[in-house]
Amino acid sequence: MPGFDIERARRETPGTAHVLHFNNAGSSLVSQPVLDATIAYLQLEAQIGGYEAGDQQADSIEHAYAAAASLLHCERDEIAFIENATRAWDMAFYSIPFKAGDRILTSMAEYASNYIAYLQIARKTGVSVEAVPDDAYGQLDVAALRNMLDEHVRLIAVTHMPSTGGLVNPIEAIGKVAKEAGILYLIDACQTIGQMPIDVQKIGCDLLSATGRKYLRAPRGTGFLYVRREVLEQLEPPFLDLHAATWTARDSYEMLADARRFETWETNYAGRIGLATAIDYAMEWGLDTIWRRVKELAYRLRAQLTPIPGVIVHDRGITQGGIVTFTIEGINPTEIKRQLAEQHINVSVAIRSSTRLDMEKRNLTEMVRASVHYYNTNEEIARFVEAIEKIADKAVF
Ligand SMILES: Cc1ncc(COP(=O)(O)O)c(C=O)c1O
Repeated sequence: MPGFDIERARRETPGTAHVLHFNNAGSSLVSQPVLDATIAYLQLEAQIGGYEAGDQQADSIEHAYAAAASLLHCERDEIAFIENATRAWDMAFYSIPFKAGDRILTSMAEYASNYIAYLQIARKTGVSVEAVPDDAYGQLDVAALRNMLDEHVRLIAVTHMPSTGGLVNPIEAIGKVAKEAGILYLIDACQTIGQMPIDVQKIGCDLLSATGRKYLRAPRGTGFLYVRREVLEQLEPPFLDLHAATWTARDSYEMLADARRFETWETNYAGRIGLATAIDYAMEWGLDTIWRRVKELAYRLRAQLTPIPGVIVHDRGITQGGIVTFTIEGINPTEIKRQLAEQHINVSVAIRSSTRLDMEKRNLTEMVRASVHYYNTNEEIARFVEAIEKIADKAVF
């Protein structure tokens, strides 16, 4: 990509000196600025005390709300920080007052933890959960969604990009349908935050969950939730503490009037500082630039893998992102991962139970998942493809 400062990107990513990292959809390599900020905060806690460090660094801690709000194009009081994407998503989902007969519409590529929550609520409250079929390109069929609507639909909940493929679901088109019908709209943006521009106003979602460690390159154990101010009143978080609410009288409490009602008092402040630094860093590179480079690298990787005898690339969707999934006939993905790891090449294995509906429909059990980020290079892709060629060569099929 002309003009992209790959030298700087790698100079500021110490891990690239040790590994060829194609597991950004798992956990990315953090950048030097994130590492420095996180360690500096931990050192301050060690030197002056945890609470004292929190007081001294109150402004930097508070800055995280402004950083996340600018990343998502929302207000800072619509942001809540939570220790990972799953809990962020759960805090939103389990705060919805479902009743028997309500319907939840979701995507075929829905993430396992989300679907398990649907099944639990269905068993407990008698709601029904239905997956909207895919269109011919493998993305959620928006016309089919429109036809499935009725007065009982209480929630439309979609995974933007599955953990098991480069598919990008059409969340803006879905948002239009949800808005027209006045239906609550929840997005799992765990794999797309930090990988592409995400504008909640354009998307029209009411709730959006995200993690820090993947494409945003923040420390592990960080995540956040967006809650549109207008829907806050209809949501009561499943858990409340003395930060989320105030004990106003012997038998009464009052919840915070903003998204912080979804938070807890105690949290990992070093992680918060690391996350805020990672958001600023991604904004500095520019999410449009990051997205263009990630798409380009992933396209190049798919194009070079596809001709290898025995290799099948499985990604679907009109728009495809940084996650590349493939199989090699005659050798299982876990063994491929092991052989690559011996060469300091990091990938992961996508398994059926992560996105059961989609992988069952495509008769897939396991795939190799190679996920690229902007600090990866064409040379790394060439080295990776060479390694796959050797493995495929030896595979018996
Ligand atoms: C699509 C998707 N949603 C949610 C999650 C859960 O994220 P976390 O591990 O931060 O809870 C993942 C994790 O891989 C994911 O890929």
